[in-house]
Amino acid sequence: MFGRIVGGYIPAPNSIKYIVSLQSTKGRHFCGGSLIHKSWVLTAAHCNIGAEHMMIVAGDYTISTYEGTEQYSKPHRLVTHPLYNKSTNNADIMLIKLREPMVLNKYVSLAPLPRQGTGMIEGRVCRVSGWGYTSLVEGQVPFTLRTVKVPIVSTARCNSSESFNGNITTNMICAGYSAGGKDACKGDSGGPLVCEGRVYGVVSWGNGCGDAKFPGVYTAVSKFRRWIDRTIYGSLLRCVKY
Ligand code: ARG
Repeated sequence: MFGRIVGGYIPAPNSIKYIVSLQSTKGRHFCGGSLIHKSWVLTAAHCNIGAEHMMIVAGDYTISTYEGTEQYSKPHRLVTHPLYNKSTNNADIMLIKLREPMVLNKYVSLAPLPRQGTGMIEGRVCRVSGWGYTSLVEGQVPFTLRTVKVPIVSTARCNSSESFNGNITTNMICAGYSAGGKDACKGDSGGPLVCEGRVYGVVSWGNGCGDAKFPGVYTAVSKFRRWIDRTIYGSLLRCVKY
């Protein structure tokens, strides 16, 4: 098991401004996420460890050092998708309403989302970023954000008997090179797969990391755009006339 984005590199400090680190109240990073509204974070449902155990950190770069650019908020509310299924990983998506809104600045910005139902064609190169566990034993050493580019793999190919053999639902997308070597990994969960400037995927699951036969599997955000908008703006949307 690897503890970080596989085959990637360290981006310039604070160049990926919409990424957040989900940490335990003790400061242990366990998942990534994307800031999509100043009071809302998009992440994976399997990153739900309970609101009272979580701290959301925006503007971070090296997890273990205080850089002065970080902003912290506890969750006010976790909204797991009602169709999330732990055993199939279907609908592995969650929204976190923050207790304190993040302040948008040079280090913290919002991630745009795709429109409902927009697909991504095979071969389109996207970017996945994240921190990961630095070690399998307790405790963390200095650890800096990493990023890697990976192309979209068609669901047909990803679902073939050579690969995930039918376990990829229409709510998932796959990305990776047929040679392997570049991928997200444990601890990158919940983080963004960005294509054409929008968060098309949320790091969800896989089989090993960087394995040639198994691309990374991501929650297809475009399938949930309506649910996201309804969750964030629901009470407001009911007030406006169309
Ligand atoms: N489930 C993992 C986590 O909790 C992410 C797995 C992604 N794996 C992959 N090979 N792309 O961090």
